[in-house]
Amino acid sequence: MSHLKAWRAAIIHCIADPKDVGVNAAYEYFEDGLLVVEGDKIHALGDATALLATLPTDIHIEHYPDAIITPGFIDTHIHYPQTDMIGSYGEQLLTWLNTYTFPEEGKFHDKDHARNVADRFLKELLRNGTTTALVFGTVHKVSVEAFFEACEVHNLRMICGKVMMDRNAPDYLTDTPETSYQESKELIDTWHNKGRLHYAITPRFAPTSSDEQLQLAGKLLSEYDDVYMHTHLSENKDECAWVQDLFPESTNYLDVYDQHKLLSERSVFAHGIHLCDNEYHRLHETGSAISFCPTSNLFIGSGLFKLNKAEAHKVNVGLGTDVGGGTSFSMLQTMNEAYKVIQLQNENLNPIKSLYLSTLGGARALRLEDKIGNLAIGSEADFIILDKKATPLLTSRLALSKGIEETLFVFMTIGDDRAIQATYSAGQCVHKR
Ligand code: GUN
Ligand code: ZN
Repeated sequence: MSHLKAWRAAIIHCIADPKDVGVNAAYEYFEDGLLVVEGDKIHALGDATALLATLPTDIHIEHYPDAIITPGFIDTHIHYPQTDMIGSYGEQLLTWLNTYTFPEEGKFHDKDHARNVADRFLKELLRNGTTTALVFGTVHKVSVEAFFEACEVHNLRMICGKVMMDRNAPDYLTDTPETSYQESKELIDTWHNKGRLHYAITPRFAPTSSDEQLQLAGKLLSEYDDVYMHTHLSENKDECAWVQDLFPESTNYLDVYDQHKLLSERSVFAHGIHLCDNEYHRLHETGSAISFCPTSNLFIGSGLFKLNKAEAHKVNVGLGTDVGGGTSFSMLQTMNEAYKVIQLQNENLNPIKSLYLSTLGGARALRLEDKIGNLAIGSEADFIILDKKATPLLTSRLALSKGIEETLFVFMTIGDDRAIQATYSAGQCVHKR
């Protein structure tokens, strides 16, 4: 028996950003495709009939005549400790944090609790076809240990970090500049680049860190070549005004992070809704990325992300769910809301662009495009199977589809976890519906 495994179905993946090459040149599509995997990597991709002629005759093939294979989704901003508080009613950011978020995060001093939530969180991601995410822990070191331990079980490519937060939060959730530096360093030394795991230095957002803490976060970032920095930026108008009060010497919100040397090619800022041209410019200059989180931005009433502005300034953008501010783990539903956010600004979000943002664009925002994000030969075999007959409505709607772009758009509009027939990570099945 051959050691190769193959999946036969329609297959689509992005090979470039539509903004650089146009929509048609940004993707490859095989109506009757074959994806061949050797171990944890992609060995071949192409038209099924042509490719089969070149392969051993005893190769094991799974055939899905009513499905589309895409790369696994990449969620560039999510909070695993907020899994159980999704859908908390009636507040905007600062009240929402104090009323719902901080009490929930307080439970993560207990490693058993953290393990339990991490396990359910990962199952939820995989049920939704998300194979990589950039994830907030809590201030507790054990929250990140529990998370990484759970990721190891499924051999997932994941990024996580301990929250740094030394002011404007309850005592039970604060650390100090020194303990946050020390504990983050210990976590980096244990977990960063262990298997498929990576560490992100994670100051929660400017208002909950002192100057000293941000300065030590910047020092820590400078001590490693390839560690990430993950925080929030310019999400809500009251938050922005508060940052100006707290850091009067900074010229804008991003400048607080800039002054503390927190902008880098591996820095990811969630939201970035209320930015001035200088801020876009500095994000571009430093190779930093923004995570666009539409379900959250609508749910907590933060505002409309300006994708055209970010693109005009050549800022890297990925898509994020931001659960529990966001309302769904599903990247399909996140694309649905992204489309509406762009519609409200009298523009269109092309489905290929949405697929790009959720796969290769996310990988580029995380500097992981040499490993994940598409189905190029040699990439890690993280992929999903979308079932065209997952629900009666998908079945009837897709029967009228005139092509792959329309089919994708329908999945992105009415699809959710039910559409994900199977999820594969590094060539192994990690979810089957
Ligand atoms: N800003 C600071 N903390 C948070 C958080 O937990 N969620 C969101 N959406 N924004 C934040
Ligand atoms: Zn967030």
